[in-house]
Amino acid sequence: KGLRVADKGFLNTAVISSEITYIDGEAGILRYRGYPIEQLAVHSSFLETAYLLIYGALPSRKQYNIFETEVMQHSMTHADAEVLFRAFRYDAHPMSILTSAFASLGSMYAEANPSLQGQNLYTKGDAASIAAMDKQIYRLIGKATTLAAMAYRIRQGRDFVVPPAGLSYTGSFLYQMDHLGEEDYVPSPVLEKALDVLFLLHADHELNASCTTVLQTASSLVDPYSAISAGCASLYGPLHGGANEAVIRMLISIGSPDNVPAFVEQVKKREKVLSGFGHRVYKTSDPRSFIVRKTADEVFKVTGKDELLETAMRLHDVAMSDEYFIKRKLAPNVDFCGLIYRAMGFPLDFFPVLFAVPRVVGWLAHWRQMMLQPGGVKIWRPRQIYVGPTKRDYIPIDSRV
Ligand code: CMC
Repeated sequence: KGLRVADKGFLNTAVISSEITYIDGEAGILRYRGYPIEQLAVHSSFLETAYLLIYGALPSRKQYNIFETEVMQHSMTHADAEVLFRAFRYDAHPMSILTSAFASLGSMYAEANPSLQGQNLYTKGDAASIAAMDKQIYRLIGKATTLAAMAYRIRQGRDFVVPPAGLSYTGSFLYQMDHLGEEDYVPSPVLEKALDVLFLLHADHELNASCTTVLQTASSLVDPYSAISAGCASLYGPLHGGANEAVIRMLISIGSPDNVPAFVEQVKKREKVLSGFGHRVYKTSDPRSFIVRKTADEVFKVTGKDELLETAMRLHDVAMSDEYFIKRKLAPNVDFCGLIYRAMGFPLDFFPVLFAVPRVVGWLAHWRQMMLQPGGVKIWRPRQIYVGPTKRDYIPIDSRV
């Protein structure tokens, strides 16, 4: 009653106050807890940035060591998780597997479930409640890489690898993905660093569709495993985290740089989708895209250039000088990092997983903030404008015309 206009797509609806990530889409600025993304990408690491996003300040050496130890110790999975993974078809999309795996974790930790332990398990704000929350945070970040690597290996028909000791977060991930039993296997330091930077860039991006989904789900006070699983499902779509996979499928379908102008014309006629371009918030270049380019240069020195690079660059040049894209302020977003993942040898349908794993950190930072917000959690329940029929009376089936 009284509502006249729906805010379709939430273009102008703020649902929360947040101290986590600042974006100025007109100026192309992205800051985590006040720190420019450019500084963090050069000086920080993914795990240090994870701490920053979740707890609001850069950690002391001691705080960092405790955080890293907790996260890495929680990278082991219960043997029951293996049974779940083996139930999937060989060609299951890894995002489907990961989404299910996160949800299944909720069934394994009864002590993390507010439906069983008391609805205010995470919202009391006392030491026990914060400790309970942080334990789930360590678990979810620690297990994200393990579950992702398991999703990869089950599809390759390979045995699972126990998370190794003594490697960095991304180093451990690459080890779990790649290790085939060689005694002296170590991940390439250049690729490990590159993946760390890409993880850092993907760690948070305020209230995108998936983060909103996590918070909407968590607003009913469900356990965080279910909420993260919901976020994963939202991220999977090609307009969001699935775009890095869609970019490569698009480049493959274009075929060669010569075909780019014709493809762009089809996009302008709305016959084709230009994945990796456009953003709800950025109306100038996505600041992450510059760091992606620099990272690509480092990776290509090791892996060699990807054959799709020329087509991608031509697409960039043609689109950026075309009135259609200029008028609509459409520029490349972060999803061209798919070219790096391809060069590193990740399978195409695994790219959204490489977005989801680091984004778990952002989702959890927002979850923690919401659970502790002053005044408690209010369930997210938007309104609609009803445009259906007014009251009508039921007609028995044989009397209907
Ligand atoms: N190619 C061609 N036209 C586009 C594109 C594109 N990629 N993106 C937006 N437009 C047009 C759109 O058709 C509209 O034109 P008009 O005003 O004539 O109808 C205008 O630009 C404004 O776009 P919009 O659809 O209102 O923008 P939105 O904020 O609702 O959608 C988006 C944002 C990211 C979903 C959209 O730009 C898109 O579909 N991009 C391609 C998919 C993609 O790369 N997604 C990843 C986003 S970045 C990482 C992430 O957050 O996941």
